Amino acid sequence: MNIKNKFFLAPMAGVNDIAFRLLCRKYGADIVMTEMISVNALSRNNKATLKLAETVKEEKPIGIQLFGTRLDAYKKSIDIIEDNFDFIDINLGCPAPKVMKQGSGSALLKRPTKIKELISFVVENSKKPISGKIRIADNSKDTIKTAKIVEESNASFLIIHGRTVNQGYSGNINYDEIKKIKENVSIPVVGNGDIKDRETLEKMKQTGVDSFMVGRAAIGNPLIFTELKKNKTLEIDKKIKVLYEYYELGKKINCYDFNRLKFLSLAVMKNFHGATEYRRKISLSKNFEDWNKIINHFS
Ligand SMILES: Cc1cc2nc3c(=O)[nH]c(=O)nc-3n(C[C@H](O)[C@H](O)[C@H](O)COP(=O)(O)O)c2cc1C
Repeated sequence: MNIKNKFFLAPMAGVNDIAFRLLCRKYGADIVMTEMISVNALSRNNKATLKLAETVKEEKPIGIQLFGTRLDAYKKSIDIIEDNFDFIDINLGCPAPKVMKQGSGSALLKRPTKIKELISFVVENSKKPISGKIRIADNSKDTIKTAKIVEESNASFLIIHGRTVNQGYSGNINYDEIKKIKENVSIPVVGNGDIKDRETLEKMKQTGVDSFMVGRAAIGNPLIFTELKKNKTLEIDKKIKVLYEYYELGKKINCYDFNRLKFLSLAVMKNFHGATEYRRKISLSKNFEDWNKIINHFS
């Protein structure tokens, strides 16, 4: 899989259903990903978890993101999912307390030996390329150490969200640290964090990373990939049309969820005159019919 100069859709729990991923692919994402999926639950054949791991061939190339620490659970999970995905990413950066409490996600950043064991095991037990998604550590030495360990474990590439665990999802992206990572490893590096327009994309490009990963800017706006690639800002009515497409597609492939449609539309109804009032009304809407009445004149 060539991952140079590509735009990735970031893994996002509660957001990346199949309809959303298909629209991101249609509007310019080169590679999409599932949300993080627990290997413990997957290896037990948990029904809801198996649903999260469903995919369709039209969205390829697609990576599945796994989290957990048990090697036996990784082995079983790989057997279940690997034929359907183009790569497997290991979550080493999730700061959610319920994930960290199990020793997974960003809790692993403090255990380099475990990272090595885990990624090496997945590499040995899978035919597909493996990546690791990490965060910046509190100091450069540890950041570089983690990145090198991912490389030494024979991962095919590295994804870096340019914030520390303590920063969560706010505060500045540390472009200097991303640049240092890129200078210190020879596997491709995917830069992630706050890419939302030409200016922020340019800042990420300056770090020298090979590819770019977009998360929140895509929520409600799969057209962000077109905007970034073509360096233009699209009108709100075009974005609303894509929300209708999302609704239709969700119905067609049986993954429609009104609350998710509502969540995505709240994210996109911003930065235009009257947006606050639209958001207030959308928040109060109870079903598709209510929602449609509020925004159908845009489409
Ligand atoms: C709603 C939401 C869910 C997320 N879920 C995941 C996840 O499942 N796995 C993961 O590695 N990161 C997850 N993230 C983090 C994103 O993948 C990404 O690293 C982060 O949002 C920074 O990129 P951005 O500034 O482009 O949003 C999530 C972020 C958001 C906002």
